[in-house]
Amino acid sequence: MHHSDPHPSPPARHWWHSATVYQIYPASFKDSNADGFGDIQGIIEKVEYIASLGVDAVWLSPCYKSQYVDMGYDISDYRQIDQRFGTVEDIERLIARLAECNMKLLMDLVINHTSDQHAWFQESRSSLDSPKRDWYIWRKGKSVTLPDGTIVQKPPNNWESQFKGSAWQYDEITNEWYLRLFAKEQPDLNWDNRDVREAVYGDMRFWLDKGIGGFRMDVINMISKPNGLPDAPVTNPRSEYQPAASLYCNGPHIHGYIREMRQEVLDEYEDVMTVGEVPFTFDPAEVRKYVEPERKELCMLFQFDLFGIDMGSGGKFTPSDWQLKDLKSTISKWQQLLSFTSGAWQTVFLESHDAARSVSRFGDRGQDNRFRVAKMLAMLETTLAGTLFMHQGQEIGMANLAEDIPIEEYMDIETKGFLHDLRQLRQAAEPDRVIELKEIVDEVADQVRLKARDHGRMPMPWDGNKPNAGFSEARDGIRPWTRVNSDFDLCNVAHQEKFTHSVLKFWQRMLAFRRQHAETLVFGDFEPVALDNGPVFAYHRTPLAGSVNKSNNILAILNMTSNSNTVFRMPTSTRGDVVELSLLECSRSKNGHSCAGQTYTTGEEVLLRAYEGLVLAY
Ligand code: NOJ
Repeated sequence: MHHSDPHPSPPARHWWHSATVYQIYPASFKDSNADGFGDIQGIIEKVEYIASLGVDAVWLSPCYKSQYVDMGYDISDYRQIDQRFGTVEDIERLIARLAECNMKLLMDLVINHTSDQHAWFQESRSSLDSPKRDWYIWRKGKSVTLPDGTIVQKPPNNWESQFKGSAWQYDEITNEWYLRLFAKEQPDLNWDNRDVREAVYGDMRFWLDKGIGGFRMDVINMISKPNGLPDAPVTNPRSEYQPAASLYCNGPHIHGYIREMRQEVLDEYEDVMTVGEVPFTFDPAEVRKYVEPERKELCMLFQFDLFGIDMGSGGKFTPSDWQLKDLKSTISKWQQLLSFTSGAWQTVFLESHDAARSVSRFGDRGQDNRFRVAKMLAMLETTLAGTLFMHQGQEIGMANLAEDIPIEEYMDIETKGFLHDLRQLRQAAEPDRVIELKEIVDEVADQVRLKARDHGRMPMPWDGNKPNAGFSEARDGIRPWTRVNSDFDLCNVAHQEKFTHSVLKFWQRMLAFRRQHAETLVFGDFEPVALDNGPVFAYHRTPLAGSVNKSNNILAILNMTSNSNTVFRMPTSTRGDVVELSLLECSRSKNGHSCAGQTYTTGEEVLLRAYEGLVLAY
């Protein structure tokens, strides 16, 4: 191909381009054996339900053997399923059952770190000359002389853990420290060691041989650490430890390791899907390196520009005054940077187990508009280019934990670490009085209620008339591992299956619409109508130039506010002066009145009620 060629041949199409992936958080999906914990058999029971949504794959958060310090992201054996979830044979049955319904299974691959209970780490920590010593990142501490002359041991560098405190853990067996970017029970593997890579590749083949469709790769951009592990610049002078993501993300050998993994493992199998999680990576040039097909690295990424829009400058739990114009321009930017035309692929997602619920983050947090917000966001997501990911419960408009649930009951290690760290900081600043946790909780309650990961992890409410909302039949003092949200009578699957205008039915219709118009919605180009700060986000989607199949253009018009008198003027089409638009889908169906078949002309004013959206094919 010549660089001057105006029509280079488009990249190959794969099944995963147009796929919608449903994320399952196994502990909270469905408990089949009444122990209060979700399990694989429970998922198998719900395969028909999952298929009824119209999705193509399931991403299963980790259910490998684990101590459950970080909810399964601390793995002690990659080839075993934790007994609370079932067995490897259960996974085989799940793969087969999903295949019967034309769905694939994606496993979570957590290979930046293991659990400290993993046999590799047990061996590594046992002595300085253990053959596996170099499988993890061990260093001597720094000796520091205090003003009174005593010498103390400090961590090898000033990096802060993602869960707060130092990123290093002292281990008395050998009087050295190991690096752990997350919890102390999650030591980081040393990817510069060839044997580590080989061992991980072997574990990957174990699952690929069973016929999984691919992997979601946990914090994959952290596996290559910078040479010499230098200190991070001091950006938080009040803390001993400093955020260091800019040093340990996208390190010197990252692309080499991913390409090696691709060549030695992934390309041995047919059309494997990979989605890499890449926190703290915002430079488009860096992002594109991972996903340009000719570089042979990953299929797509979870990139966090949009996802982090409400994070304040002082970290996740500090307020942000983000505006609609920020949301619009962030979406537009990435839709245009990563698209089929641009030769690099992307994902669309607003939720996961690492975030609060989208209706609570992007809506007005009231009950009145809650389901309208959920539908509007469904319209947004199903009309954007990329592989679409939805998180369990999103399809019924699950909201954040209700306000009556005390924050002291939140269980996530990130939430707890944040509260603990803040309390320590305050205590250091005011040594003369005891700072109670309650005081800290009160101070940050609003942010925690808005953004904690706990909101994405509560049990699925299957049926409002059953104990534990149908999630678990646990009784006799056994309770679900974490609280069922108190709004289950308002928001549950059984109810929404019966109700024509439910969020669930709406998602089903929008996913069918996306499939029908995949040529435009999945593969086509994106053009915003305007990126102003107004209430409406409107954009055109157009099929690829030279597209062989005859396809519609799509115009999405979304009122992203609670203002129920929002006027939108139909834009001039990019393709001509006057267009006729016939309405195919809208969220204005609550009273049973259908909008299908209406036509609009350029310049005509359309009135949108709170969080109402229209999607027009023309
Ligand atoms: C990202 C995962 O999604 C999150 O849940 C986990 O805590 C960290 N990586 C560490 O594995």
